[in-house]
Amino acid sequence: MCGIFGYIGDKNCVPILIGGLKKLEYRGYDSAGICVADGCRLTVVKKRGKIADLEGSLRLKKIIGTIGIAHTRWATHGEPNEVNAHPHTDCCGKIAIVHNGIIENYAPLKKLLEQEGHKIVSQTDSEVLAHLIEKFYAGDLEKAVIQALKIVDGAFGLAALHENEDRIVVARRGSPLIVGIGKNEMLISSDAAALLNHTKKAVYMADNEVASVTKNGYIIKHLNGGRLAAKKVDKIKWAAAQVEKGDFAHFMLKEIYEQPETIENALRGRIKHGRIKLSIELNVSTVRRIIITACGTSWHSALLGKYIIESLASIPVEVDYASEFRYRSPLIKRDDLVVAISQSGETADTLGAIREAKEKFAKTLGIINTVGSSIARDVDSGIYLHAGPEIGVASTKAFTSQVAVLILFALYLRQARGGALDKNIIGELCGVPQKIRHILENTSGIKSIAQRFKNSPNFLYLGRGVNFPVALEGALKLKEVSYIHAEGYPAAEMKHGPIALIDKKMPVVFLATEDRFLNKILSNIHEVKARGGIIIAVANGNGSKKVRRLAEHIITVPSTLKSELSPIINVIPLQLIAYYIANAKGINMDKPRNLAKSVTVE
Ligand code: F6R
Repeated sequence: MCGIFGYIGDKNCVPILIGGLKKLEYRGYDSAGICVADGCRLTVVKKRGKIADLEGSLRLKKIIGTIGIAHTRWATHGEPNEVNAHPHTDCCGKIAIVHNGIIENYAPLKKLLEQEGHKIVSQTDSEVLAHLIEKFYAGDLEKAVIQALKIVDGAFGLAALHENEDRIVVARRGSPLIVGIGKNEMLISSDAAALLNHTKKAVYMADNEVASVTKNGYIIKHLNGGRLAAKKVDKIKWAAAQVEKGDFAHFMLKEIYEQPETIENALRGRIKHGRIKLSIELNVSTVRRIIITACGTSWHSALLGKYIIESLASIPVEVDYASEFRYRSPLIKRDDLVVAISQSGETADTLGAIREAKEKFAKTLGIINTVGSSIARDVDSGIYLHAGPEIGVASTKAFTSQVAVLILFALYLRQARGGALDKNIIGELCGVPQKIRHILENTSGIKSIAQRFKNSPNFLYLGRGVNFPVALEGALKLKEVSYIHAEGYPAAEMKHGPIALIDKKMPVVFLATEDRFLNKILSNIHEVKARGGIIIAVANGNGSKKVRRLAEHIITVPSTLKSELSPIINVIPLQLIAYYIANAKGINMDKPRNLAKSVTVE
C-alpha cells in the first residue's frame, strides 16, 4: 500500500527522499509528498500523480534541509488529490506526519478534534493523527505521539516531525517500518528495498513500538509501557542492483526473465543426496491436516499446494482465502498446520489469518519472500523463497518460487513421515529452470498472439488438475496489467455456465499439456470450437500434434514427466501474454491502475 521514507543526517534530504519514494512507488502511486525541516520550520510539498510529478514541482522550489519525511499514497479514504496527499500537518504547520494503514476510529476522533477547534482540511483518516499529536504536544514529540496513539484504533506505520525537534518519531502497528542505520545518518522506510542505496543495516520495528530517531542513533520503546525494546540489527541480504530494472523496459519483464535463477535460488542447498533439507523448526510428522491461507496470486499457489501436497505427501489440505478464513471462526485443531503463503509477508489478511490460527493453538508455517516481514516474524517456522525483491505489482517470480517451495515442502513432509522419495521428481525439479530458459528464448509466437488479441474485451482460461490454478493465475495476470476482463475456470466447469459466453470473438486459452487429462481437455476444446471460440493452447510433447489440429494458436512448452511440476512451466507463457498485451496497449504494467503491491489494509 502506501510507502513511507525518511532521512535524518548531514546531507540535503530532498534528493534522498525522492530517491526513496521512487523505490517505494510500487506501493502506491496516486499522489506523493515530502516534508523537510530546515532547523526553523517545516516545508511541505505534495502533488497528485507520480513521484516524477512531485520531483518536477520540487525542481521549481529551492528547498533544503537535513531532516525529512516522505510518502507515496494508495488512497483508502478520500480521493487522490493534493489535499489528501501526505504529509499532513497540524493546525499551525509545526507538526507533520506520514501514515500508512487505516485509523478505524477517525470519524469520532475528527469530531472531537473539531469540537476542540482543530481545522481538519482533508478527507483522509490520517490527518487526525497530526492534530492528535498537536493536542498532546507539550515540548516532547515522542510523548505526544505515544499519547495520541493510545486513543487510536487501527493500523499504522507512522513518521512524525516537529519543527523544533531534531528527530523523527516513528511508530508501528500492523504496517511495516524499518530503521536503516547509516554513517552519521539514519533512514526510515516501509520497505527494506528502498534502504539499499544507503545502508544494509536495518532494525525491523515490531507492532506497538515507537522509535525516536536522530542522526546518530535511535531509541525504541514499547508504545504501551515505555520500556526499552531490545532490538537486533539485521543485514539486508538483497543487492542494490536487484531493485533496478537494468536493461529491461519494465520490472515485470525483468522478473519474468529472472525466474530460472529465482527457482534455482529456491532449491539451492535444499536438496542433498536425494533428500530434502529444510530448516523447519516444527515436528511435521504428527500433522493431521494442513490449511493453506493466502490472497491473490499467493492463493493460486496455495491451491496448487493442495494438489501437490495431497499427491506427494498424502496429507489432506484445505485452502482458504485469508480474508475469509480469519473471520469465519475456522475449526482449527492443535494437530493442524496452518501455512501462510505471501510474497510481501505484510498482507494484512494473511497476517490476520495466522494470528487467528495461533490463537487456536495450531502450528503455523510461512512460505514468504520478504525476510524480516511481519508474517515471517509471526509464524512458528518458515521457508523463505529467496526470489529477491519483487517490484512489479503483478506477481510473477514469487509465484513460481512459491510453487517450487511447495513441491520441496511436500517432499519434505513425505520424507518426515517415513515415505520414500521419488528420485525422478527431484531430478525433474532441478531441470525446470532450464526449461523456463527455453521458453524465454523463444517468445516470438507469444508476442504475435499478444498483438493479435490486444483489443479483445474478454478472455477465458481453462485447465484441469494442476492446470486449473494456472488458468486462474493466467486470467488474473491479464486482468491486472491489461484491464481485459478474463476468467479462469476448471475446464470441466465450462459446461455449467461460462460456455454461454463463447462466441466468435472469444479467445479461450487452454492449458493442454500432456497429463492424464489431455483427452478430456481435447473434448473441451471441441466444445469451444463448436461454438466458434478461438483456441489458444499451451501444449507439449506428442500431445501438441493433437492440439495443433484444433487450436488456431499454439504455444509449445517443454514437457515434464511429473505433472506436479508443470504449473511452473505452463504459467510462463501466460505471464508473457499478459505482459505483451499490456505493452501493446501502452499500459505501464509495473503500476497498473488501482493496484498496489503489498496490501497492508483489510
Ligand atoms: C497479483 C498479486 C496479488 C498478490 C496478493 C498477495 O499479481 O500480486 O494478488 O499476490 O496481494 O500478496 P502477498 O503474496 O504479498 O501476500
